[in-house]
Amino acid sequence: MKTDLLIGGQWRAGTGGERIDVVDPSTGEVIETVAAGVAADATAAVDAAAAAQPAWAATAPRVRAEILRNCWQTLMEHTDELADLIVKENGKPRSDAVGEVSYAAEFFRWNAEEAVRIHGSIGMAPGGDKRIIVQHPPMGVVVIVTPWNFPAAMITRKLAPALAAGNAVVIKPPAETPLTALRVAELCEEAGVPGGLINVVAANDPGAWFDAAIDHKATRMVSFTGSTAVGRLLLRKSADRVLKTVMELGGNAPFIVFDDADIDAAVEGAMVAKMRHSAETCTAANRFYAHAGVASEFTAKLAAAMSQVKVGNGLGEGVDCGPMITAKAVANMHGLVEAALANGATAELGGKPIDGPGFFYEPTVLGNVAHHSPIAGEEIFGPIAPVISFTDTDQMIAEANDTEMGLAAYVYTEDLRRGLQVSERLQSGMVGLNRGAMSDPAAPFGGMKQSGLGREGASEGIYEFCETQYIAANW
Ligand code: SIN
Repeated sequence: MKTDLLIGGQWRAGTGGERIDVVDPSTGEVIETVAAGVAADATAAVDAAAAAQPAWAATAPRVRAEILRNCWQTLMEHTDELADLIVKENGKPRSDAVGEVSYAAEFFRWNAEEAVRIHGSIGMAPGGDKRIIVQHPPMGVVVIVTPWNFPAAMITRKLAPALAAGNAVVIKPPAETPLTALRVAELCEEAGVPGGLINVVAANDPGAWFDAAIDHKATRMVSFTGSTAVGRLLLRKSADRVLKTVMELGGNAPFIVFDDADIDAAVEGAMVAKMRHSAETCTAANRFYAHAGVASEFTAKLAAAMSQVKVGNGLGEGVDCGPMITAKAVANMHGLVEAALANGATAELGGKPIDGPGFFYEPTVLGNVAHHSPIAGEEIFGPIAPVISFTDTDQMIAEANDTEMGLAAYVYTEDLRRGLQVSERLQSGMVGLNRGAMSDPAAPFGGMKQSGLGREGASEGIYEFCETQYIAANW
């Protein structure tokens, strides 16, 4: 397994000789170390990307598409190996890790198909004096910064469209899960991506890394998935260089259950929306609004379903929920639970950390949660389901929208008209209507408000990695 920096198609140690400890969150033990780059390495990576990009941009879209399709196939052929790596460094259950590999690979297949469909347009100007030609060349060098919750898929969701459009990239993988990133990059090169197009530089000091990569004159774009706080920081830094940015930031998804909903189906959807990938997704249901007429039944059935969740090492037989990523994450979510209980919530199930080793939290259901409780306002990122009862739909929608976040929302009702009307009133980039999951490489993923800027996936996704050029022409 390669554990160094990948710069210009070569594996090399970081300039400062530093390493990053990779920890198995199910034991708290260091399982591997990887090279940590410093500012000089980030600069070298942008240099390498800038050198490799023009030839790639000049490569026929069909050729780029075929290489990307090879990436899809190669990742799929390495599903077991990649899933094991993901479990090792992230901790998620192996079945989720296998699902993630296929999700991650699919971004290559989807964007292989999009690579040959980057359309422009041509038309006569209204004044009849010129033709208006519009086309979409690549941005150039793209800096990609990704989180630990999807060690493979959050990279490929950016990498695949960036390459498809003719760009070169410099990736800063998360310090918690760099191993999967390095292996994905290596496999992409084996699949035919020319050296220098994918550069991977992990870092111990993200601030210095960002400064070097963003200040480099060849960098034209920053694509980031992570917290809103770090997103704001990257936006500020990018503003100094007027870089294009795509930001996939935090969420605070409401999950709404009307009194006409099929409660069993709602509970099944709630379990997916809350618990997929160990409840560590930014689309995770964060607050459950159940109509007063069904709140007790929904809460009891949700607690019963949560009580069946098997928590443990992601490699364990039948495990549904792995460890949280760090001890700090566990402490933060426990603080939110304690504050909710102090505000009058009831612990219907769980409510505390599980003794180590590893960073585990009990599957938890809280009833009678107050809308103003911090747990309803902050992203939990753990297996905790706070239930808020409502009677007035307008007030509930106002509360659901009473957040700076607007990434995902879920609505359960048997009345499709009501479902669509409520979905349209939710300030959310994505809505699951009678569904607990909506992520799909063919759909536009992204948030409103402070949950982000731009979209990933779908047909929109590839254009984020393109410029728009207009040529005014006479002939
Ligand atoms: C995320 O948590 O950032 C991504 C979730 C998803 O793609 O489903």
